[in-house]
Amino acid sequence: MARDIAVHACSECGHQSPQWHGRCPGCEAWGTLVEERIKASSAGATARGRHVRTAVVAESRAPRPLREVTTTATARLSTGIGELDRVLGGGLVPGSLVLLGGSPGIGKSTLTNMALGNLARAGHDTLYVSGEESAEQVRLRAERLVLDPAHPAPGRHALEVPILAETDLDAVLDTLATHAPRVCVIDSVQTLCAGDLTGAPGAMGQVREVTGRIMKMAKERGIAVVLVGHVTKNGALAGPRVLEHLVDCVLQFEGERERPYRELRALKNRFGSTNEAGLFEMRQGGLVEVLDASARFVAEATRAPGSVVLAAMEGSRPLLVEVQALVAPSELEQPRRVVSGLDRNRMALVLAILGRHAGVAVGGADVFVNVVGGVRVDEPGCDLAIALAVASAARGVAIGGAHPSTPRACFGELGLTGELRWVGHPERRLEEAAKHGLNATIAPPESGTGAFEVATLREALAGALAPGAPAKKAKRPDRLAA
Ligand code: TYD
Ligand code: MG
Repeated sequence: MARDIAVHACSECGHQSPQWHGRCPGCEAWGTLVEERIKASSAGATARGRHVRTAVVAESRAPRPLREVTTTATARLSTGIGELDRVLGGGLVPGSLVLLGGSPGIGKSTLTNMALGNLARAGHDTLYVSGEESAEQVRLRAERLVLDPAHPAPGRHALEVPILAETDLDAVLDTLATHAPRVCVIDSVQTLCAGDLTGAPGAMGQVREVTGRIMKMAKERGIAVVLVGHVTKNGALAGPRVLEHLVDCVLQFEGERERPYRELRALKNRFGSTNEAGLFEMRQGGLVEVLDASARFVAEATRAPGSVVLAAMEGSRPLLVEVQALVAPSELEQPRRVVSGLDRNRMALVLAILGRHAGVAVGGADVFVNVVGGVRVDEPGCDLAIALAVASAARGVAIGGAHPSTPRACFGELGLTGELRWVGHPERRLEEAAKHGLNATIAPPESGTGAFEVATLREALAGALAPGAPAKKAKRPDRLAA
């Protein structure tokens, strides 16, 4: 009888080793190697496969210059959800693997179910494999998507999707082989189980094997597969960093569960840009694309001390968001620094620059900074907004807009010497601000017409916090004007 083969796989990075180590040789994490047993027959099959493949490659192809490689334009499959298509780079690519990660309850199943419904309605064969929920549960959700009288329900075709509630990988592969759908969603990859591996579903070895075999099937038959994956508490895709290497596209669905806004971002995309982000709102009746986000955030902006509008870039799109700060005397020895929607280290840096170069010291105070609406902004252009919001909060002076009724917008990166640095796409940011009635946007030098250009943080504060804040252009220092 053939004996099982034992390998030790790291649950962090997926490194495999025949022996057990206390410390993973791959990622140097301690105590992460877990023994996995592979049935000898499947190990043998893999080894044989490898031999065959090597032989085929050797006899058929010689290397050739890239210019002689012929390409065929692949038709994308539109999911009928504009924001999702955009983040994907124009729709799903046949034969590709997309990993969709996000914390529980964020709306992964809802989004995939809506997308499949639209694809099914457009005449494509689809399949929804649910390992987490029973067919009845999935139907109940689909009914919520369909039966919403208040909105032209974005997921109105959800009930047309064929479902397979299954956790056995072989059964899923059989179904894929016989039905050969154009698009398949596996919800989730952590629930499928390959019978010939001993690990529990979701274990590193299982997830890798499941993904590997599904990928083979997807490539052979040109099926576009969306794998839904869980994320760990600290936001990384659970365990399978390895998966990120295998798949073509990694999407992250994020947001706070208690708030309606959801952001979809591409972390990796072999068929498109990773700069794109899509904004959704979870409503009764499914996820609704938010197309007028700037208008909403500007209308809601408070104009109180501590509030400023940031003209940010979300990928290739400008987005106006309100950044709020609160500076309060602290009772703690180590005052609190709480930030949401922005990078913690950026805030620490900006606070240091404020103290050193602009005379706004918040050393002994608690500082809270928040992007309103639960949106996350991850770009250098947010520095100035953090600085202005904190300074305005610390001094108790509101940032004046061109008119008392409008808030003031800004963008720009801060250098360590207190200078304001140019950031990408100033013209688009300014245009977006102007479109929503915000003039004299505070911006770094060379930003373009319509900007209230300032060269240093000090100048920015003088312009923003002065009573009846000036809307005229500040004179640039000679070194920059030259
Ligand atoms: P779900 O897609 O099941 O999340 P995930 O698959 O990421 O775990 O979404 C679950 C949440 O979405 C749940 O809290 C209910 C909410 N929801 C709505 O608010 N409206 C709806 O129409 C639907 C279907 C769900
Ligand atoms: Mg789900």
